[in-house]
Amino acid sequence: MEHSLPPRPVRPRRSVLYLPAGNARALAKLPDLGCDSVIFDLEDSVAPEAKDEARESLRSFFADGRAKALPTGMEKIIRINSLSSPWGAEDLLAARGCRPDAILIPKVDAPDDIAAVEDALAQTDAPAVLRLWAMIETPRGVMNAARIASLARTDGTRLDCFVTGANDLIKETGVAAVPGRPWLSSWLMQIILAARAYGLDVLDGVYNDFRDEAGLIAECRDGQAMGFDGKTLIHPSQITLANEAFGIDPDRLAEAEAIAAAFARPENAGRGVISLDGRMVERLHLEMAQRLMDKAARIAARDQGDHTQ
Ligand code: COA
Ligand code: MG
Repeated sequence: MEHSLPPRPVRPRRSVLYLPAGNARALAKLPDLGCDSVIFDLEDSVAPEAKDEARESLRSFFADGRAKALPTGMEKIIRINSLSSPWGAEDLLAARGCRPDAILIPKVDAPDDIAAVEDALAQTDAPAVLRLWAMIETPRGVMNAARIASLARTDGTRLDCFVTGANDLIKETGVAAVPGRPWLSSWLMQIILAARAYGLDVLDGVYNDFRDEAGLIAECRDGQAMGFDGKTLIHPSQITLANEAFGIDPDRLAEAEAIAAAFARPENAGRGVISLDGRMVERLHLEMAQRLMDKAARIAARDQGDHTQ
């Protein structure tokens, strides 16, 4: 059954770092990192023969208090292997036991791939606060992005966020991986549009060359202009740049505050459209302004270490 569109969460997801779940040094480094979210990975970054060890490493990280000691504002996601793989069922069980904020399902081709995980979680009475994220990284996933995103309007759904998987998409399609992503961009825009149509957050894919700062900055700026909420990352050196690129532009914040102040004036009460500094401003701009101000407040709280937001 469809329900009305929920408001999109405004929690900061500027920088979302992948961390191979079996990498002890990376796990030890995590408390000092300023990423908004971390994805503990059991999938592509873990070799088949290391899957069991990585899963056990993750279980201990969540069981022995290290996960709890992370900054509370840092969102915790676990990427499992697909349920059709030899490791998927065991991963899902382990991930559910870890009580992360979300589980990330890889290589989602169609709504059924999400429904299968929703069903498995329902059977274990998983709490509703446990959310699902979906990787869109296959040709069928991109073509079906709208149908997959529409699950977000189903009662009781856990689906919250799309994550673009750039490397898999390049591998599966043969599209050239070149600066500016001239041919990839139309598929990325399709993923963004599908996410927005149904109120999901949507994250850009990774930038592999982690020593190339200028390249990452350029790709983050593109991603921000395209409409992504943030960027998935592979290395700590990429966090600050992503936080800057997907942060709030002070000029845009000042403009938003001016719009809110203008609509708050008594003479503008009940007006649908006003003029501000020679520009037409409508109530939809007020909504955008309020959303931006809300996000700015949450980002400021996150950056100042107030993790209650
Ligand atoms: N998360 C947390 N810490 C990380 C990290 C990550 N993703 N990547 C590197 N680090 C840590 C390293 O452990 C190292 O810490 P140390 O100084 O305490 O030993 C420090 O950052 C510097 O790392 P560096 O030596 O520059 O890189 P590396 O050679 O150890 O690792 C990669 C390079 C690419 C193998 C590694 O960054 C990585 O595995 N990234 C994630 C890959 C992934 O998850 N891919 C799947 C999604 S696309
Ligand atoms: Mg992938």
